[in-house]
Amino acid sequence: MIRNHRPRRPVVAALVAAGALALAACSGDYPNTTFDPHTEFGRTIDDLWDTLLFWGTLVFILVEALLVYVLIRYRRREGSPEPKHVHGNTTLEIMWTVIPAVILFLIAVPTVKAIFKTQAKARSDALQVEVIGHQWWWEFRYPQYVTRQATGRLDTLVTANELYVPIGRTVNFHLKSADVLHSFWVPQLGGKRDLITNHTNFLWFTPDSTLETAVWNGFCVEYCGASHANMRFRAFTVSVAEFDRWVRHQSTPAAFNAMPVPSPGATPAAQPAQGPVPQSLPPVSPPPGAPPATLASASPGDAYVYPADRLPDHVRPTTPIPSGLAFDESLRGDAARGQQLYSRSSCIGCHRIAGNPMSVGIIGPNLTHFGSRHTLGAGLFPNEARYLGRWIKNARKMKPGNTMPVFGRGEQDPKTGKPEPTGTMTDQEIADIVAYLLALK
Ligand code: CUA
Repeated sequence: MIRNHRPRRPVVAALVAAGALALAACSGDYPNTTFDPHTEFGRTIDDLWDTLLFWGTLVFILVEALLVYVLIRYRRREGSPEPKHVHGNTTLEIMWTVIPAVILFLIAVPTVKAIFKTQAKARSDALQVEVIGHQWWWEFRYPQYVTRQATGRLDTLVTANELYVPIGRTVNFHLKSADVLHSFWVPQLGGKRDLITNHTNFLWFTPDSTLETAVWNGFCVEYCGASHANMRFRAFTVSVAEFDRWVRHQSTPAAFNAMPVPSPGATPAAQPAQGPVPQSLPPVSPPPGAPPATLASASPGDAYVYPADRLPDHVRPTTPIPSGLAFDESLRGDAARGQQLYSRSSCIGCHRIAGNPMSVGIIGPNLTHFGSRHTLGAGLFPNEARYLGRWIKNARKMKPGNTMPVFGRGEQDPKTGKPEPTGTMTDQEIADIVAYLLALK
């Protein structure tokens, strides 16, 4: 009888096609995959996932096989008598209680072990990095390092949206939020862990010592408002020597033309300016506890930034420029004039530039070495003049919900449809500020 119900050819063909399609999903390049971890933290979670997948698959296959067997073996047949009615079966009931309990135990042991491992305190010699989530950008603070201000004051080394960590050294992240809930995740390194208001969460991982210098995409993975999807960052895992050079450079105040950063395709406005020479700074002595080595002055050849020409495609932003936001790209900016304009504008109320004593705001991203960053607007656009000009002109069009004011003359706030009182700058003035900011290498 069963022989009459053999699967037909089309069914076999469909099954083979579905199988091939499913297997095809396993090939290819997935730069943001979480299944290719490069830290012990990531591997702990990946191993746990593999364990759970193994047991889950085993249970699924056994249960389905049993089900199919029973369906076929005991199916209704012509003329067969009605099955015997039974009530209760102690042996069966004990079995289907004990077996799941054993399975749960097998799952619970590695799960609890992984929880203890990933929630443990970081080792005491870890690099400390404070991660502060803002709507919608990332602030990274390195409390073990300082930046010298123009006044000679020493402040914590702060950067935004581009995280540098050394290969082979444990990094302990202090996760905080300036406003609402966010969540920190670099799929191939570690996370996710939430950033919670008025509470510090911790997360640590060690980029594998076998890694080469690389860059990874980071994301906010907790819905946090209009531009949640635009709250991205880049994580650079660099050699210890490169990290030291990066820190030394970031510890210095901003200066024009401080270092040549390779940036192929840079627009004329991005060229090093002929502006004022770096201000000479009074000598300072580090405060108690500050590591003196971090104050060693960085000579241009010394500075390190991940080279722009080595950025892989998957970290290059592809967000299109919003329609209806024109900017005269033929304008040549003057960085010295840009510095004057910037320092007189309301920019300085929100942004800080170590080396520009006028610019001491703390609400927006720190712009000290802005020109050495690869992206703009929390990983949304390439950090190039044509994007930065439009950003300054109308940041709210460039990024929905942005709190940065509209500065372009005649521009409107896309939400209210009205011009903003700050909207006074001409394209030329903006091009000058762009030249200044991009010169902050
Ligand atoms: Cu921050 Cu989502």
